[in-house]
Amino acid sequence: MNEFIKNIYEADSVVGRSGKAHKLHSSIDHEEGEFLLSIINSDSTIRNTLEVGCAYGLSSLYICSGTIQRSGASHTIIDPFQNTQWDGVGIKQLEAAGIDFYSLIEKKSEFALPKLLETNEGQFDFIFIDGWHTFDHTLLDCFYTTRLLRVGGILAIDDVHFPSVKRVVDFLKNYPCYEEVGVVGEDQENRMVALRKIQEDKRNWDWHDDAF
Ligand SMILES: C[S@@+](CC[C@H](N)C(=O)[O-])C[C@H]1O[C@@H](n2cnc3c(N)ncnc32)[C@H](O)[C@@H]1O
Repeated sequence: MNEFIKNIYEADSVVGRSGKAHKLHSSIDHEEGEFLLSIINSDSTIRNTLEVGCAYGLSSLYICSGTIQRSGASHTIIDPFQNTQWDGVGIKQLEAAGIDFYSLIEKKSEFALPKLLETNEGQFDFIFIDGWHTFDHTLLDCFYTTRLLRVGGILAIDDVHFPSVKRVVDFLKNYPCYEEVGVVGEDQENRMVALRKIQEDKRNWDWHDDAF
């Protein structure tokens, strides 16, 4: 599997369903992928995973390469544009890598996440957010995924160096239910952050954080 991912980075391009080659952009880099993989490798209870934003499938490949040997592994992908804008390339890569335990929800996360929450509260072991990076959209993704995540599960967020995403992550870090487990990038320029949900989110209606 690692060889498979390495080849994609080396080629710097992937072929979509249409047969057209697409130059890589917007995907997580090798260091970020290894970070996600190391978290999954360090916790054998991670089986049920969720991802917002698949694009070329690099993050999906890393996540699934960590769980592929685990019985009952399941990876849910939310990406509204996978088969249109992205030419199905992320899913094509998963299939080429022999990963068959994924499901694709081709809807915007603002529609897909509340629907998923109706039946999956506290069900996911690992969630990765790399979708639409505005402040409000990222906050919405984090609101729903905090509830979809089980206690002990991991929430990883990409592109934390974007001011919009950083603001959400800084806010989230103050929740009593989260503790930071790792970052990628320099001190003030973290590109990716992983938080562990250490307890149920029991904040009362009047909880607030003085920093905001
Ligand atoms: C930065 S790319 C993801 C890169 C991917 N994680 C990788 O490593 O290759 C952002 C993705 O978010 C998706 N996206 C855009 N708007 C979205 C929305 N409203 N909800 C969920 N995903 C969205 C895009 O289609 C795109 O695939």
